[in-house]
Amino acid sequence: MLTASVCVALLACLHAQELRGHISVILLGATGDLARKYLWQGLFQLYLDEAGKGHSFRFHGAALTTTEQGQEVIAKVLESLSCPRDTAPARCAELKDQFQQLSEYRRLKTAEDYLALSKDIEAWVQREGLREAGRVFYFSVPPFAYADIARNINSSCRPGPGAWLRVALEKPFGHDHRSAQQLATELGSFFQEDEMYRVDHYLGKQVVAQILPFRDQNREALDGLWSRHHVDRVEIIMKETVDAGVLTTSPCSPCSGRTSFYEEYGVIRDVLQNHLTEILTLVAMELPRNVSSSEAVLQHKLQAFRALRGLQKGSAVLGQYQAYSEQVRRELQKPDGFHSLTPTFAGVLVHIDNLRWEGVPFILMSGKALDERVSYVRILFKNQACCVQSEKHWVPDQSRCLPQQIVFYIGHGELGSPAVLVSRNLFRPSLPSSSWQEVAGRPGLHLFGRPLSDYYAYSPVREQDAYSILISHIFHHRKDSFITTENLLASWVFWTPLLDSLAHEVPRLYPGGAENGRLLDFEFSGNNLAFSQQPLEQLVPGPGSGPTPSDFQVLRAKYRESPLISAWPEELIAKLADDIEATAVQAVRRFGKFHLALSGGSSPIALFQQLATGHYGFPWAHTHLWLADERCVPLWDPESNFQGLQVHLLQHVRVPYYNIHPMPVHLRQRLCAEEDRGAQVYAEEISALVANSSFDLVLLGMGTDGHTASLFPQSPTGLDGEQLVVLTKSPFRPYQRMSLSLPLINRARKVAVLVMGRMKREIAVLVSRVGHEPRKWPISGVLPDSGQLVWYMDYEAFLG
Ligand code: BG6
Repeated sequence: MLTASVCVALLACLHAQELRGHISVILLGATGDLARKYLWQGLFQLYLDEAGKGHSFRFHGAALTTTEQGQEVIAKVLESLSCPRDTAPARCAELKDQFQQLSEYRRLKTAEDYLALSKDIEAWVQREGLREAGRVFYFSVPPFAYADIARNINSSCRPGPGAWLRVALEKPFGHDHRSAQQLATELGSFFQEDEMYRVDHYLGKQVVAQILPFRDQNREALDGLWSRHHVDRVEIIMKETVDAGVLTTSPCSPCSGRTSFYEEYGVIRDVLQNHLTEILTLVAMELPRNVSSSEAVLQHKLQAFRALRGLQKGSAVLGQYQAYSEQVRRELQKPDGFHSLTPTFAGVLVHIDNLRWEGVPFILMSGKALDERVSYVRILFKNQACCVQSEKHWVPDQSRCLPQQIVFYIGHGELGSPAVLVSRNLFRPSLPSSSWQEVAGRPGLHLFGRPLSDYYAYSPVREQDAYSILISHIFHHRKDSFITTENLLASWVFWTPLLDSLAHEVPRLYPGGAENGRLLDFEFSGNNLAFSQQPLEQLVPGPGSGPTPSDFQVLRAKYRESPLISAWPEELIAKLADDIEATAVQAVRRFGKFHLALSGGSSPIALFQQLATGHYGFPWAHTHLWLADERCVPLWDPESNFQGLQVHLLQHVRVPYYNIHPMPVHLRQRLCAEEDRGAQVYAEEISALVANSSFDLVLLGMGTDGHTASLFPQSPTGLDGEQLVVLTKSPFRPYQRMSLSLPLINRARKVAVLVMGRMKREIAVLVSRVGHEPRKWPISGVLPDSGQLVWYMDYEAFLG
């Protein structure tokens, strides 16, 4: 009986072993920097963790180097591997020896080489009486090599039926959205999505991997805190001391390959587009019910991406350490006069337009050659308390007056290890006690302005390297730690427009290290971010330097016999905004409301932004907003004038919904169909709400062809007659338009025409000379019957 049960147990055991099977790991680029520093160690860890559980392994280091050279490098790397801290030296030597026995170097270049590898694996499996479970190919090679390798694996080295294939890929995954898409399509022709593991090693960092579980385990405490009502700002920071030629802090040789990579990518593509963006989504996403479901996490991430407000040039500041250009000239053999524009430092202000985060600044910042090496995510909460007693009586876990913050301290810095910190005056966090422990007190250590003792601070019980963790996740098919194609493309969609707009931007030079002083400090307001200190050369103008804006006063003159106000763009916009506000206040005082009709196009954007951010006395609650013209596209289309108004003004001010009057260009799911009578409907609305159909103020622009609103030359519609609102045709896309008619515009109490930029110079000169010829130049027909017309022109348009 006993023998029988032993036999059964033995059989079960053998069966389990058989089920687990043999795994081949092929490390491509096995002699490169990354492999030598992290990947071999990660594979060793995998072996230590899993070999005892019945799996069998072999590790094939591959590269293009000759077998002899490759073997030499690999032998050195294997010799330098380290065992977990508590392993006795003799045991460690034994384990390393076992691992070395299972590891080999081979040259993989041609399709035949891949086929030979496949045959070797099959022969080994057969000889050892094993079952093949799967193959992992880890691509630690530059992306230009991806396609060839992928083709070879797909055609000659896939495992047989019943065994899995997993390929791990290292960034960069493209240079912008288009190239990322191309690479994704190419890889997609060789591998299925499920087979690909795109690595972002920050997702393997213990603290980053803890963000979602932390939010999940502390739902109760965080539910009331994790939103715009309580969060003041979020900082996502990765500071480095090393320069761009170095892979990490540890010395590397040769490193010149890194400079050529860096010169092509720069800090935004190298760090912000991937590591910091991934962290941003982990903090900002709505928390899935089940945080361990990869699919749910991905869907919530994608939703967070969709809510990111588009970035503009003004959303970022760029820097470059002074020695960088020389480094590029030296290492990449560039001519003496070469100056690189590649940023090695960037700060970017991100906003998330959803109910949870609207208005909360997310600051992403990273740079090389800074004063310290540290990475963290800091969530700083608003402080609304007023404490009466003096500070000496404040107790860290009670005083609401002390700063309240949660910090995911990713690593390095003063603390020197990863940790999760929660201000004691917030709540005591819950973390899994098997893997996280309280950090021992460190008297004198201050973090983020407070002594360590002000925080509940937890560190991992066993610190693990990110690559070891990710390699283990590949083995366990934990796809939530990797970047899917959709996720990757969503990130590029977000970053590409900013990268394009910054392509020719000259970064601010900084000396590097502690000497940077305050040079890189930046501050934000609204959507914009700027260095706090003006560069010296602007503060002290040299001899003969050109006029600066402050050298000019706002100029008052006449244009077409009406008042003209001219200034530099910024002052002009400020003046126009002030005048609009004064008109609004006056109208509200007299009539209880203010009817303002606004045009679209690019010139008024700065005005909208000015009104949105600098005019707190504006009577928005009593303002009715109308459109002077509209393009026949849906209102949410980026081309729609209403959309411009929405993005740059409406979402920042409080105009009651019922006072907003978009033009009805999209009725019954059709655009500007005559039968839908949109123009008549708008005219009726104006007649019903605006006394005498006389707007308090109409803001117009002037096109380079002399058009205004959507009244175009050589098209008589809307120039005279009874109709208040008309459908017109534009010579430019989108061709169909809706516009206030000239007679309606001229009924206004006040009309302001805003003309900006050198491109308007020619038409401005021409129109100054012509008489009343609206058929040729519709703008010349603007002359209010009894109201006032004022021209606002910047110097470039007026003086050229
Ligand atoms: C890499 C970047 O992804 O991350 C490097 O390409 C950077 O430029 C590195 O140095 C930083 O990683 P870590 O783990 O040292 O913070």
